[in-house]
Amino acid sequence: MKRYSIGIIKGDGIGPEIVDEAIKVLDAVSVTQGFIISYHEMLLGGAAIDATGVPMPDDTLNGVQKCDSVLFGAIGGPKWDNLERHLRPESGLLGLRKAMGTFANLRPALVYDELVNASSLKADVVKGVDIMVVRELTGGIYFGQPRAIEKDRAYNTMVYTRDEVIRIAKVAFEIAQKRNKRVCSVDKANVLEVSQFWREIVIEVAKDYPDVELTHMYVDNAAMQLIRYPKQFDVILTSNIFGDILSDAASMLSGSIGLLPSASIGSGVGLYEPIHGSAPDIAGQGIANPLATISSASMMLRYALGEVVAADKIDEAIRRALKEGYRTNDIGSYDAKEICSCSDMGDIIANYASK
Ligand code: IPM
Ligand code: MG
Repeated sequence: MKRYSIGIIKGDGIGPEIVDEAIKVLDAVSVTQGFIISYHEMLLGGAAIDATGVPMPDDTLNGVQKCDSVLFGAIGGPKWDNLERHLRPESGLLGLRKAMGTFANLRPALVYDELVNASSLKADVVKGVDIMVVRELTGGIYFGQPRAIEKDRAYNTMVYTRDEVIRIAKVAFEIAQKRNKRVCSVDKANVLEVSQFWREIVIEVAKDYPDVELTHMYVDNAAMQLIRYPKQFDVILTSNIFGDILSDAASMLSGSIGLLPSASIGSGVGLYEPIHGSAPDIAGQGIANPLATISSASMMLRYALGEVVAADKIDEAIRRALKEGYRTNDIGSYDAKEICSCSDMGDIIANYASK
């Protein structure tokens, strides 16, 4: 029987609740699909600060490399907000992404037919939306040097190297080839040198993918177009910070940020994470939506472990639960038959996915 070793980083806030539900679902499909998962829990973010004094302990850094893949919940919270930047929970996550080399963050924004009324936009604008945001994850202004706060000024540096742009552009074109063969590269080339450079390189890379149509859009216009007519997009290719912002905006097309998964991949072990944060305001109440994390676990099965049938089962189970009217609080006002707790939703998906 196949065996997989999965790193588990629950993190802070709602992280532990949502990851527990994803584990429940993974356990259920592993039984019916005939594979065994061993879980290895590791600390990151606020939980790591409390236990070890640093947001990314060496044990975590070494531990993830020994796993086939890593499932991550969420980090951060008011308790750690006043720490120095390099000691904050967010630094742990950014450091881990960098150390794992997960330079490509795939963030699908998919609108379930069952939830078209949950979006803050009109149903006919969002029905059928299926966008893949390919966000560069280990470069750009998040990591560029120099960076500092001085007495009377502060600065960060947005920098991309040729190789960084080439490798993320290739990921976007390859994904587009398996989808609707359109890439929209989002930048701010009318103002920023780094974006002009990005655009020139993306145009070069596109020559190797003649079957894929490449367009370009400035980021401010892209934000507007996402709200105006989101169905025009197939794959959005963009830099770290633009992707961070646009993927939150895209998430609301689907009705709730609690629905959207992501895969952070590179050359080695991947990190599978919901796009939302740790939601400290609702932590511990059992009302969080675990679907983004459960979908992230499905992406992990599909992309990291090649367990495609198990992943399909989970995706179908999510659709079925939504179709039957099971809703967590965040989407509870829309066509709900029953409001579920976080753990009820995990039970329902685990049950349907194991059929
Ligand atoms: C995300 C988050 C992170 C980011 C934070 C928590 C560091 O917003 O995954 O989108 O900015 O990348
Ligand atoms: Mg974000």
